[in-house]
Amino acid sequence: VNGRDIHSHARPDEARVVHLSLDASLDVEARRLRGRATLRIEASPGAEAVTLDTRDLRIVAISDGSGAALPFTLGDPDPVFGRALRVTLPDGEPVVAVDYETEPGSPGLHWLAAEQTAGGRIPFVFSQGHAILTRSWIPTQDSVAVRQSYDARITVPEGMTAVMSAEHLTPDGVPADGERCFGFRLREPIPPYLIALAAGDIGFRPVGARTGIFAERALLDRAAWEFAEMERMLEEAERIAGPYRWGRADLLVLPPAFPFGGMENPRLIYVSPTLLAGDRSLTTVVAHELAHAWAGNLFTPATWSDFWLNEGFTVYLELRIQEALQGAERAAMLEVYGHREWEAAVQRLGADAPDTRLRLDLAGRDPGDAVTVVPYVKGAALLRVIEAEVGRERFTSYLRGWFERAAFRSVTTAEWVADLREHLLAGDAGLEARIGLRRWLDEPGVPENRVVPRSVVLEAVEHEAERFGSGTAAARLATDGWRAQEWRHFLTAIRTPLPGNRLRELGDAFRFAASANAEVLFAWLRLAVRSHHDPAIPDIERFLTSCGRAKFVRPLFAALVESAWGRPHAERIFGRARPLYHAALAAALEGIVGG
Ligand code: BES
Ligand code: ZN
Repeated sequence: VNGRDIHSHARPDEARVVHLSLDASLDVEARRLRGRATLRIEASPGAEAVTLDTRDLRIVAISDGSGAALPFTLGDPDPVFGRALRVTLPDGEPVVAVDYETEPGSPGLHWLAAEQTAGGRIPFVFSQGHAILTRSWIPTQDSVAVRQSYDARITVPEGMTAVMSAEHLTPDGVPADGERCFGFRLREPIPPYLIALAAGDIGFRPVGARTGIFAERALLDRAAWEFAEMERMLEEAERIAGPYRWGRADLLVLPPAFPFGGMENPRLIYVSPTLLAGDRSLTTVVAHELAHAWAGNLFTPATWSDFWLNEGFTVYLELRIQEALQGAERAAMLEVYGHREWEAAVQRLGADAPDTRLRLDLAGRDPGDAVTVVPYVKGAALLRVIEAEVGRERFTSYLRGWFERAAFRSVTTAEWVADLREHLLAGDAGLEARIGLRRWLDEPGVPENRVVPRSVVLEAVEHEAERFGSGTAAARLATDGWRAQEWRHFLTAIRTPLPGNRLRELGDAFRFAASANAEVLFAWLRLAVRSHHDPAIPDIERFLTSCGRAKFVRPLFAALVESAWGRPHAERIFGRARPLYHAALAAALEGIVGG
């Protein structure tokens, strides 16, 4: 509440990192990154030391800019927050150079053997810093409130290409003995969770003037087709939110182990290969990650408790972009689906549960574990209420102004509220009361004045789900013209458990198990698990051993362990699938399935 980032050891008021220079090489066989992080520090008068974050790092030596050793101490390790690294500041130039290497298990880097990639010939590695994992591959101040520009020189084994969330300086550098070296630079200051690095058999295909696709060469054709509309998304986003401030906007398709749908790394959006549905039906994730270029990346929540500022503004923009591209009805379908997920989360957590508030209490908790759909949908819903009160045009121009005023800053919810009062509410007490800002920000549950989204298409879908539930044969349902979004909603709306014969009837009629759309397949498999449907077990096993996306994997395991029927399957499948999963996901699953 007071705006301090409790998830970092850094004391930026004393001394803060303003620029990072990374010079590192990837030892793929040893699964270690080795190198030097040179940090430029801004210290307040009289400060004697700078405090950095580390986790699972081996610190080799620390020196100043001229090579003289600097004394340092490491604090006690905490399994989530890591160890504070306190370095005595040099007398001369305020530069601290840390020589270090990562551990094979450092959770911020995920190493894949060649067999675990699409191409099968060359290993792959990717970083994932969000929420507080960058400290496990770069010793710096890993705080949302400490923005840093960066440059990097990354050396990789022959055959590998490195990419980062930055300007690419040497697409094809020439270092020693078959190794390859890549140079990067990001001038705009960002919080460290947005620093991203990946390397593998990566190729590139432009899809627009400022947009292009990086992917394993084996996936490049499919990926370039699936995301061909990226440039138009970017143009629509600019029309709503103002100029894109990051230069290029490229996209990297990751291997199946990537635990999220997407991640908004500046200039290099990460996406899951589960978006490659073959029909462009899942590209809203790209709109979402592009929207983060304004919400989250341009301004960043100053603490993880303010995370809703990041995701709520992003979902609002994502819906606006989809409305511009696909029309009001398609956007309304997305919004309705979101509200259903929000309602389900409030039901699951309890209407009074603190985690159903926008401003969260995350003391002692890993902000990466605390993520629910609430900051996403409730956050966007608050912006909808304000939009409805003041009108779309006024709200949009307020938003553009906000993005400019907050650009390249880390801000708290309180600072945003002050800005809103100054630039939009302008002393109109009646307006603020109608919005109910306090209620939205700090009280649990679903506020009564939300704007309830409506979709005639999904209402028809829900009607068919009810008809099926009350006995209508699958073949007689009115499903003509349904696309993936309709099918997903249909499967989510069906009441469980279903008797085996009715599930079989559904599966035979619509072949969900063969769906190329991961959202549809997931919704089908969850329905099957909730109904203890034995014939679906091979499909569930195949899905869980080939996809590491947390949004699908966690709920399926959680549903499996709920019954004596499912638990043995969960244990067997987790044992097989574990090497695929990201470290953070595997740890969370251990809590669900048992280690
Ligand atoms: N920044 C998030 C991913 C994230 C959240 C990483 C929390 C670590 C902790 C990203 O922008 C996101 O929200 N991705 C969603 C997709 C989106 C369309 C809702 C996802 O991965 O499912
Ligand atoms: Zn997001």
